[in-house]
Amino acid sequence: MTTLLHIDASARSDRSLSRKLSKAFVDTWLERDKLARVITRDVGHNPPPFVTEAWIAAVFTPEAQMTAEKREQIRLSDELIDEIDRADVIVIGTPMYNYGMPAALKSWFDKVIRIGKTFTFDLGRGDYPLEPIMSGKKLIILSCRGEFGFGPGGVRETMNHLETHIQTCAHYLGVNETHVIAIDYQEFGDARHEASIADAFDAVPVLVGQLIGERHNLRAPA
Ligand SMILES: Cc1cc2nc3c(=O)[nH]c(=O)nc-3n(C[C@H](O)[C@H](O)[C@H](O)COP(=O)(O)O)c2cc1C
Repeated sequence: MTTLLHIDASARSDRSLSRKLSKAFVDTWLERDKLARVITRDVGHNPPPFVTEAWIAAVFTPEAQMTAEKREQIRLSDELIDEIDRADVIVIGTPMYNYGMPAALKSWFDKVIRIGKTFTFDLGRGDYPLEPIMSGKKLIILSCRGEFGFGPGGVRETMNHLETHIQTCAHYLGVNETHVIAIDYQEFGDARHEASIADAFDAVPVLVGQLIGERHNLRAPA
C-alpha cells in the first residue's frame, strides 16, 4: 500500500494553480490505485511557526533531561516528521515566491529536518557529516510561477531557487527521486500561460502512470 503525503503551500485557496495541480496529481493517483492512502498537510493555510531559541534548545536536549515544556515545544515537529515517516511519496504543491519557496514551506522544512530524527551528524564522516536516516521516498514538486524560463537553459535558470532548494532539503527526508511539473507565465495571463497549464495537467496522468507502474513492477514476482 502506498501512502502519499500531500502538502500545499500556496497562501491562495480556490484561485491557486499549484493547489489545483497537486489535487489533480493526488486524485489521479487515487483513481488508479484504490489502496493508496493520503495524509494532507496544508502549510499554506496553517504555516508551522518559525524556529525559536526555545525550540532549538528542546531539539538538542537529551531524552533523559526532557521536560513537559520542552516536549510541547517539539510536539508539532514530531507530528510532521511522523507524517513523512509514513509516506512513500511526498507531493508538494507550491508557488514560487521571490524566486524561492514560500516562507510557510521553508518553516515546514525547518521543523522536519531534525538531528537524531531525520538525519545523523558525525564528524567522523569528514566534510559531509550529515546523513539522512530515512530513504526510498519519492518527491513530486507541482509548482506555479508568474514568470517563465526557470528550466535548464531557460532565461531565468539561475534565478530558480524553488525546486533546487526543495530538492536539496528533501534529501535529508529520505528522498532519492524527484519529479517536477510546473506552470509558468501566470503573471502574463496570455496564450503561453494557457498552453503551460494544459501541458502541466497533461503531464500529471503520465507521471502518475509511470510511478504506479514502477511500484507494481517492483512488487511483481521474479
Ligand atoms: C508574494 C509573491 C511573490 C512572488 N514571486 C514570484 C517570483 O519571484 N517569480 C515568479 O515567477 N512569480 C512570482 N510570484 C507569482 C506566483 O508564483 C504566481 O502567482 C503563482 O500562480 C502563485 O501560485 P498559486 O497560483 O498556487 O497561488 C509571486 C507571487 C506572490 C504572491
